[in-house]
Amino acid sequence: MSICAFIFDLDGVLTDTAEYHYQAWAALAKELDVAFDRQDNEQLKGVDRMGSLQFILDKGGLQLTASQKHAFADKKNRHYQQLIAHMSEADLFDGVHDLFAQLKQAGIAIGLASASKNAGMVISRLGISQDFDYVADAAKITQGKPHPEIFLTVAQALGAEPAQCVGVEDSLAGLQSIIDAGMQSIGIGDAKVLEQAQWIYPHIKDLQLATVLKQAAN
Ligand code: G6P
Ligand code: MG
Repeated sequence: MSICAFIFDLDGVLTDTAEYHYQAWAALAKELDVAFDRQDNEQLKGVDRMGSLQFILDKGGLQLTASQKHAFADKKNRHYQQLIAHMSEADLFDGVHDLFAQLKQAGIAIGLASASKNAGMVISRLGISQDFDYVADAAKITQGKPHPEIFLTVAQALGAEPAQCVGVEDSLAGLQSIIDAGMQSIGIGDAKVLEQAQWIYPHIKDLQLATVLKQAAN
């Protein structure tokens, strides 16, 4: 099946914001006296804000009221927004401009499927907002990753059948979302974590578009 859309995750795929999410969650976990390391964080990548907070609370055996949870989620978000405040076009990962140019040249649509409510701000700071044919609104997604809703929403908006789409993710939850959406999958990061992906590259700049398109068509 020939590919007509590439649907990207943002944090950890196009820029290093996955690290900032980790730092902000780690600070909150410390405040709550819950042990939380990078291995725990792998489970959180791609997971929405309240789901991520719940993971930390469950890990610490903590029970909070809904309003306490919202207060802690807001606190993490304020910290995260401080961490991304200095971001600029220089923070776009190497290789993204080239990849987008190649996709455009090939007539392949570009979509964004980020669970982050800060995604609009981040892509604007990176100077790539205009490159996307469609950007999912995380606030309108009712079932977060690993549910396939967000990838399917973007595919539908682009007028592409799932099988004609390639999803690109750095997270386990996001990869599951792509697979359950019936799309072809690229993992960016550690091959041991992302072993279920059809193609795995350590970094977005390593992605071999010609190879993917050739193999995806078979
Ligand atoms: C992405 C990130 C997660 C983050 C989630 C929600 O999926 O991978 O780490 O928790 O977005 O982000 P937000 O900016 O809305 O809190
Ligand atoms: Mg990610």
